[in-house]
Amino acid sequence: MDTHPTPDTPPYALLGGEAAVRRLIDRFYDLMDEAPEYYVIRKLHPQDLAGSREKLFMFLSGWLGGPPLYVEKHGHPMLRARHLPFSIGTAERDAWIACMTQAMEDCGVEPGLRSFLLKSLSGTADWMRNRKEA
Ligand code: HEM
Repeated sequence: MDTHPTPDTPPYALLGGEAAVRRLIDRFYDLMDEAPEYYVIRKLHPQDLAGSREKLFMFLSGWLGGPPLYVEKHGHPMLRARHLPFSIGTAERDAWIACMTQAMEDCGVEPGLRSFLLKSLSGTADWMRNRKEA
């Protein structure tokens, strides 16, 4: 199968649609919850991750070219503003990307698609940094 996204086959479709995106988000938060190397970001989240799972699922659905669920429910994401209550530096950025990388590997996301998505997500994660560091 051609794994290069086009307007007719956005990443959402290439990944396998709603069920696959849910699986990916569930794996992402399960890893965050369990693996000590992600505690640096786990500790910023609420004890119950159900709401976080739902919000990231809805956001990524639209971001990947599927139904824009987050925007329909919450309006403009204003992601940077919504992350300002949390102290995010390079350690948190790198942990988020490492956790997503592992989740994609575990879910068997095809390597070409994986690096395409991670490149773009890395830009977003970097933009979320709000802590001044030396
Ligand atoms: C850079 C490291 C990041 C950290 C440490 C981080 C952490 C957090 C935390 C603690 C929350 C609040 C959870 C909750 O309300 O249940 C949150 C919310 C959210 N994050 Fe992140 N995040 C990061 C990067 C990203 C990236 C790259 C994306 C998108 C690709 C993203 C998308 C979201 C969304 C959609 C929400 C829900 C916003 C809302 O409606 O309140 N985050 N994040």
